[in-house]
Amino acid sequence: MTADVRVLDDPAEAAADLLARHAAARHHIALTGGSTPRSAYERAAVADVDWGGVTVWFGDERCVPPDDERSNYAMAKAALLDRIPAAAPAVHRMAGELGPERGADDYEARLRETFGAGTPSLDLILLGLGSDGHCASLFPGRPEVEETERLVVGVPEAGLEPFVPRITFTLPLIDAAREVVFLVSGASKAEAVARAFGGAPDPATPASLVAPASGSLTVLLDPAAAELLEGVRS
Ligand code: 6PG
Repeated sequence: MTADVRVLDDPAEAAADLLARHAAARHHIALTGGSTPRSAYERAAVADVDWGGVTVWFGDERCVPPDDERSNYAMAKAALLDRIPAAAPAVHRMAGELGPERGADDYEARLRETFGAGTPSLDLILLGLGSDGHCASLFPGRPEVEETERLVVGVPEAGLEPFVPRITFTLPLIDAAREVVFLVSGASKAEAVARAFGGAPDPATPASLVAPASGSLTVLLDPAAAELLEGVRS
């Protein structure tokens, strides 16, 4: 499985189109947090599609209340969910306020309620990339990266700001998706991009371990983020 790497002047536009395409198909979409996807969400919100049949999940969350400025749910709510003019999607937010362990148990139970036993195959999982090579809240050198059974786990210690506990999808759940898409921009990510998509898979760069079993992997980059990327890992 080789990643489809696209270097674009406006990767957020491509991400917005992708979200709209999955919305039109009434799919299960997992959103990412951080700051990079905000403009993609704002644009997807005004795309001429019906979100009424969509189910929105989250790939990770910070263990803070849902109205906290550090909350991924709060960001997505302001940038996308509150701006959708017509029918709203079903939304499953991670209950960060429950703390990492109870929050992870709660979210795994909700995935099971919806998809039953086995590893669900979400239609789209959107991911960002940290300058340390983390994705979702799977941080370098942390045990959560090695998880092979659970779908969702608690992260007692974050590897990057904000230094609050997290809840995160695991690699088995990410790799079961039909489509995994990274949205990454800015020179501060160039080194992590080169390690994540240009080198061999390495637990020191959790994003480099993302390898959808039968789904596709697309990487949307701006030129600054792609600066150090020579070849693409196969
Ligand atoms: C989070 C995210 C995380 C994010 C990266 C990139 O909760 O922090 O889900 O995985 O995607 O840290 O964040 P930026 O887009 O803010 O650089």
